[in-house]
Formats: sequence, structure tokens, C-alpha cells
Amino acid sequence: MTATNRRRVLLAKPRGYCAGVDRAVITVEKALEQYGAPVYVRKQIVHNTHVVSSLEKRGAVFVEDTTEVPEEAIVVFSAHGVSPQVHEEAERRELKTIDATCPLVTKVHKEAKRFASEDRDIILIGHNGHEEVEGTSGEAPEHIQVVDGPDEVDKVEVRNPDNVSWLSQTTLSVDETNATVEALRERFPNLLDPPSDDICYATSNRQDAVKEMAAECDLVIVVGSDNSSNSVRLVEVALDAGATSAHLIDTAALMDESWLEGVETVGVTSGASVPDLLVQDLLDRLALSGYEDVHEVETAQESLTFSLPKELRRDLRAEP
Ligand code: F3S
Repeated sequence: MTATNRRRVLLAKPRGYCAGVDRAVITVEKALEQYGAPVYVRKQIVHNTHVVSSLEKRGAVFVEDTTEVPEEAIVVFSAHGVSPQVHEEAERRELKTIDATCPLVTKVHKEAKRFASEDRDIILIGHNGHEEVEGTSGEAPEHIQVVDGPDEVDKVEVRNPDNVSWLSQTTLSVDETNATVEALRERFPNLLDPPSDDICYATSNRQDAVKEMAAECDLVIVVGSDNSSNSVRLVEVALDAGATSAHLIDTAALMDESWLEGVETVGVTSGASVPDLLVQDLLDRLALSGYEDVHEVETAQESLTFSLPKELRRDLRAEP
């Protein structure tokens, strides 16, 4: 057998769009149909360059802050969630808001509020500066401190070591978060867990699928944008699970042909904010280089869907 006909692709499943991203993107599309352009969107609706530029072409205007939105205009809040202060600011400016926060992020906000109402110190495991972390922290800024991995556990200061809880960003590495929780529990043996996992089903399913195939891969290519937390984590998980090399690319055009030198098995996956057509583009490009043999590696089936934000549903129903 020659090297050429041993070339193959292992394609992770699940990959790509999760229920929260699907809902957020449809929310902007439906809002454009319902109200007409422009529809303002605070921050990137989801962290994917392709999705954002396609919506921009259809009339969505992405802004960093609600202060950039003209009074009384329509603004959509992104899937990553916003703090109560952002809601208050939008109300003051009489904006019509549509909240596309993923319900699984909203769940973490509610946990933060509950722990804060019990006057607990809350350790939020996550990436400082990430929009989701800013939104969740804003629910109880005086109770929450952010810890970005096990190395930062030593710097935590609490009022009462017996009254500490932890929460996490939804898109972290499952293994690294477990290590951070272990380090926290060493310092605070009575640490209280959240009622259920904060890392969402989509994040952990995509990591499991990559783990399953990584050891067989000389190269793993993750399709996703570099500001997408869950996509970046997939590269790390692939390397930790035994892939010889791994890269993150926004589009197939960014694949470097030299990565394929001496490679028999390429693993392919994509982050939760990536439309599958971008994965198809990569498979087409790989096929041109002799990687036509594609095997799907399926580790879970997903069927979760979320209904559209209620304020949008109400207006859609009111249509004659
Ligand atoms: Fe929600 Fe998880 Fe997707 S939190 S937006 S289902 S990555």
C-alpha cells in the first residue's frame, strides 16, 4: 500500500453548531425579516467571523456597546449573555431588546444570583475578559472572583473558607476545569459545587469526540475563530489526547499545505459556532490533496433545541 492510499480523514461528530448558537443566529435572521435593517447586535452574536460577516451583509450592525445604538432602535444581545447593568443601560436608552443569551448561560447567571443571595464567595472559573465571564460576574460583582485555571487558585482570597462556591464558564476544557476544582477543594474542603455542570453539553460532547479520535491522528484541524473559547479548547484537547499536531483555522483557505507532509490521518472538527459548510470546504480541500476517504467518529447524538427569545416570538405571532 502506498502512502497516498493510506490517507484518510476522521471527522468528529458531534461538531459545529450547538443549540444556543443556532438559536442566536436564527434570532438575528428573523429580527431582520420582522423589523427590517438595521438590527443592532451587541458584540459578535456568536464568535465566528464567517457568521458575523454574513449577517452584516444582510443588515445587522455589530456594536461593542449599547451606547452606540441609536435610541429606540432594536438591539440583540449575543449568545454569551450580558450583565444586569447592560439591561439597565438599554432600558434607560429605551432600546427594544431581544435577548439571545443561550439558556445554558442564563442557568449559570441564576446560580450566581442564588449563591450571592446566600452571601457566599463565588469562584468563577473562566477566562478574564471573555464576554460570558463579564456577563456572569455582573450578576454579583461583590461576590464573584474569576480564576483562570489551577495556577491561579493560590491568589484567591475569601471572607469565610467554609462558605465558598464555584461556577464556570460554559465553554472550558472539562479536564482543566476539574483540575482547577480539585485545587480549590484542597484550599476549601467545604467548597460547594453548582447544582449541575456549567460546562455545557455541546462543549463536552465536542471534546469527547476529539479525544476519541486524536490518538489516531497525525494532524487535527479545528475549524473555528481564534476568539471562540470552545474552538481553542478543541485544539488543546486534541494535543492532550495524543494528536501529533493540531491547528485552528477560520476557513479552509487558511490551511497550510505543509501541515500535510507525511500525514496519513487527519482529524477534522469544528467549534460550536461554526456552520458545517465551512467544514465541507475543508473536506473538499483535503480531498484535492488525496484525503478523500472520510470516516465519521460519532460519540454522541444531539437533539436539543431552544425556542426563540420570547420578545421575538411575541412579535412573530402578532404578524397578520
Ligand atoms: Fe450554549 Fe453551550 Fe452553545 S452554552 S451557546 S450550548 S456552546
